[in-house]
Amino acid sequence: MAHLTMTSNGNDAPAANAIEVRALRRRFDHQQVLNGVDLDVPAGSIVTIVGPSGCGKTVLLKHLNLLLRPDSGTITIDGVNVTRLGWRGIDAVREWFGMLFQSGALFDSMTVYENVAFPLVEKTSQTKDQIRGRVIETLQAVGLEGMDNKYPSELSGGMQKRAALARALIRRPKILMLDEPTTGLDPTRTGAIHHLIRKTQKDFNLTAVMVSHDVPAVFEVSDRVAFMHRGRMQLVGTVEQVMSSSDEEFKRFLAGRASGDEDNSTVSS
Ligand SMILES: Nc1ncnc2c1ncn2[C@@H]1O[C@H](COP(=O)(O)OP(=O)(O)O)[C@@H](O)[C@H]1O
Ligand SMILES: [Mg+2]
Repeated sequence: MAHLTMTSNGNDAPAANAIEVRALRRRFDHQQVLNGVDLDVPAGSIVTIVGPSGCGKTVLLKHLNLLLRPDSGTITIDGVNVTRLGWRGIDAVREWFGMLFQSGALFDSMTVYENVAFPLVEKTSQTKDQIRGRVIETLQAVGLEGMDNKYPSELSGGMQKRAALARALIRRPKILMLDEPTTGLDPTRTGAIHHLIRKTQKDFNLTAVMVSHDVPAVFEVSDRVAFMHRGRMQLVGTVEQVMSSSDEEFKRFLAGRASGDEDNSTVSS
């Protein structure tokens, strides 16, 4: 797949892929969770990772944002091999990421403003005025203008997701990682969040990697889809390519999702 990154423009051309994963392997105890994952994430696109529950999607995302280390394989971000960075290097690279995790809930005791400002207050030396300007701008971008003094408990589920997205965007990352960003929302609010993710991805010129169980609804806002199965990418391509694939496992997965079944399949190593 290396040919995908080559251009005819010479060495100054930007890398076509914001993220390249090669032969990534990671075992927990006796379970080979990642078993040779290959994935390209083109810059400025949304790649959505789908697959049965427990197949390793979250584990992969945690490798991409350097929370977990692989046993072998490589992760390249913007042309930099980040697989074996030391802690200082990891801290620097993490500044490129905004993350919205399923469990990345808001702090209940803080207002929306304080929640969204938190990464700036903690990690930068911006002045109060600079922070205020950035927070207001970001709340506007996610449709939460005027909500700054509310507490999370006063917000609907959809608004809480918007606030979490604002917090993920507050440091103006290059890459946004989203793990099941619509969990707990009804289909209408899910669609609204999907479109908000697409809008912010364009507005902020982001590369996004999203894990989602909203299949096939999420494909509407995805550029590429990766179907993860048995610790690797069974199928990767544009939405059209993946949807027209005759891969039996994927068809079974799609049918299961469409009928609303919870997927009970387990990962075998
Ligand atoms: N820290 C860990 N220690 C041991 N096993 C883990 C750990 N994290 C995840 N796993 C296992 O890895 C598998 C994949 O988990 P996960 O990536 O969370 O699945 P999903 O695709 O649903 O996000 C699961 O069987 C899970 O139990
Ligand atoms: Mg998960």
